[in-house]
Amino acid sequence: MDARRSFYLLLPFLVLLARGASAATLKFTNKCTYTVWPGTLTGGGGGQLSSTGFELAQGASFTIDNVPDTWSGRVWGRTGCATDASSKFTCTTADCGSGQVTCNGAGAIPPASLAEFTFVPAGTGQDFYDISLVDGFNLPISATPEGIGSGGSTTSCPANINSVCPPELAVKGSDGSVVACKSACLAFNEPQYCCTGEYGTPDKCPPTNYSKIFKDQCPQAYSYAYDDKSSTFTSAGGSDFLITFCP
Ligand SMILES: *[C@@H]1O[C@H](CO)[C@@H](O)[C@H](O)[C@H]1NC(C)=O
Repeated sequence: MDARRSFYLLLPFLVLLARGASAATLKFTNKCTYTVWPGTLTGGGGGQLSSTGFELAQGASFTIDNVPDTWSGRVWGRTGCATDASSKFTCTTADCGSGQVTCNGAGAIPPASLAEFTFVPAGTGQDFYDISLVDGFNLPISATPEGIGSGGSTTSCPANINSVCPPELAVKGSDGSVVACKSACLAFNEPQYCCTGEYGTPDKCPPTNYSKIFKDQCPQAYSYAYDDKSSTFTSAGGSDFLITFCP
């Protein structure tokens, strides 16, 4: 058999191998004492993942396979979800407003703790990831790169910021308990909190008494738009990720 012939015989397997290597996975685990409904949103006009929302019982895990190795987007966890008498699905926190368990291209309505990702293919650079509380907090969350040689470390917001949320930022559930905590930007929409207008550059937008509450609780997470760069983490391109609720 000549070399060219054996190449064409092998081609389908080579394509399969390449495809297998070019996708990442996002694995979700729920360590909270309550059910969480994760949501996913692709950024920058790219296609949505194979799942944009699902139910994750206490202690359960679920993996989204075939995440493109050039994917960028965010994931979050919805709480207090239920289907009402008219079959509409809604959540007390981080709802995406779709009326369904799947979000289908809709993002979390803040406040929502976010895990954000920007992927590059293996061997071409680094994956970037962070936990963001810029739009507020609803539940503890962490992101951990996995896979051979990922070389990155976990970034986490393990604290329950709801328990220290000042009243002017608090979102309360029907039973009066604090279910989420707005960022000061979200609550007051003022330039010094949102880093807009005359506060629109990193050197002109220092931390505030409100952003410091979030930073004290979760030092690894972004607490406001121009938080220091230490909140961005990197791992080898092509890493898989584990997202844990209530790590
Ligand atoms: C933060 O500072 C503002 C403006 O000085 C003040 O009105 C507010 O009470 C302070 N809040 C907290 C939680 O310290």
